[in-house]
Amino acid sequence: MTIVTSGLDTSAPEYAARRAAMLARLGELADEHAKAVAGGGPKYVERHRARGKLLARERIELLLDPDSPFLELSPLAAWGTEYPVGASVVTGIGVVEGVACVINANDPTVRGGASNPWTLRKSLRAADIALRNRLPLINLVESGGADLPAQKEIFIPGGQVFRDLTRLSAAGVPTIALVFGNSTAGGAYVPGMSDHVVMVKDRAKVFLGGPPLVRVATGEEADDESLGGADMHARTSGLADYLAADEHDALRIGRRIVARLNRRRPGPASAPAPPPLYDEDELLGIVPEDLKVPFDPREVVARIVDGSDFDEFKPLYGPSLVTGWAALHGHPIGILANARGVLFGEESRKAAQFIQLADRSRTPLVFLQNTTGYMVGREYERDGIIKHGAMMINAVSNSTVPHITIVMGASYGAGNYGMCGRAYDPRFLFSWPSARSAVMGPAQLAGVLSIVGRAAAEARGQVYDEEADAAMRQAVEAQVEAESLPFFLSGRLYDDGVIDPRDTRTVLGLCLSVIGDAPAEPSGYGVFRM
Ligand code: COA
Repeated sequence: MTIVTSGLDTSAPEYAARRAAMLARLGELADEHAKAVAGGGPKYVERHRARGKLLARERIELLLDPDSPFLELSPLAAWGTEYPVGASVVTGIGVVEGVACVINANDPTVRGGASNPWTLRKSLRAADIALRNRLPLINLVESGGADLPAQKEIFIPGGQVFRDLTRLSAAGVPTIALVFGNSTAGGAYVPGMSDHVVMVKDRAKVFLGGPPLVRVATGEEADDESLGGADMHARTSGLADYLAADEHDALRIGRRIVARLNRRRPGPASAPAPPPLYDEDELLGIVPEDLKVPFDPREVVARIVDGSDFDEFKPLYGPSLVTGWAALHGHPIGILANARGVLFGEESRKAAQFIQLADRSRTPLVFLQNTTGYMVGREYERDGIIKHGAMMINAVSNSTVPHITIVMGASYGAGNYGMCGRAYDPRFLFSWPSARSAVMGPAQLAGVLSIVGRAAAEARGQVYDEEADAAMRQAVEAQVEAESLPFFLSGRLYDDGVIDPRDTRTVLGLCLSVIGDAPAEPSGYGVFRM
């Protein structure tokens, strides 16, 4: 055992200040999550209940095994856009009859559950997680289809929802649709493309065109029930495999379908994993409010891995990046964690070598990000910082083990790429409320714009307007600062959610348990020494 020795002084004033700042941000996070939970607000929630219907989250709760966890994904989707926080759909991973499944539940209290561009992105992300991790996908359907005023953003790309469903099926990943209400037009292809379909009697309405459209198109007079009711589909068209008496019955049938999928269930853990030796609560007091102040990521590692047991790789070489081996809830992992923000050539080479070793031993990688990017300057360019960074980015891109990324603090520049940012396709990516991400820091970005503007004015022979420059800098800094914040980035689906640092071990444990059975062969050459 190699136990991390913590140097965190929990009686120091900095610790108290960092903790207070993190708790304040968590308060803001709770307010934003509450907006997603509130759905369309009291008026629409009450109307929905008065119709005798369950809310999206209630449906999920009844579907899942009692007292099992639900890892909600992208709850802040659409934050900062014209659409309600949550994007009118609830997605996540939960356990049904002992089988981990991806759930996608429309929220009919938000604009009739209609899909806006963010709903689409969120649902596509959920389907991607199902495919990559081979998890059955269960759709809880009740939606007005495309959000009509936004149709230009979703009609054409939205076809992927149905394509993904059938590709999941082709890949042997089961798809299940429980239809609680409206599922019209394109939405009809959700049950249409699913392996297993349940419809709720007198509630499900599944047709390509509703009565008004049929009247306009063909002149035919038809009512909802004869055109696309659950009873008709169960008895006549055959689109429904099961006719549920009510919503509870549909959820019960859904559970029975999963029970009969004959999916391999994870066996009991060989031995209970030892918890970290240090208190997870102390994760609140590690990240400084000012991200320019460095912090030791070993303090984080010590509070998330089993027994705080961490074997560091190359501890004396490239010390701005900490690399090493640990276990988390019994799952072996390799960790890459930024220590002092900047990545130099040594850190890049160390990362590339470490990632290759993880590939050889089939060990999933966890990236703990707090980086301002690769080092710039004449000395570093001459030393080949681009080549060295490229090695690290190459290793991350082509590594065949699963990756999970946690953005703890800064995530700027190409450091975001080398440390497995969203574009590098980690299986999961979560942010802490202290995260910040942009092409560079706001002050640096405004400074670059100012220098470029000054040079351009000089080239034109004009006098540079210093007053306008100061105003521009201030405006750009404020804009980039706002766009670097975790709620904004989560709203755009650049992560899978903003989490409480204290939940990091639990969230990583859930993710590792669902990616566990997706092995792949290591690629290419043997390990290059760097
Ligand atoms: N796009 C945009 N807004 C929509 C919408 C859609 N597809 N479907 C519903 N809404 C809005 C409604 O305009 C209404 O807004 P308001 O309360 O501000 O007036 C709100 O969502 C709730 O709709 P409402 O009709 O009152 O809810 P309902 O529960 O009684 O009925 C539907 C829900 C989905 C059955 C019904 O709204 C409907 O038929 N929508 C159109 C379905 C359709 O043909 N879609 C095209 C698919 S491509």
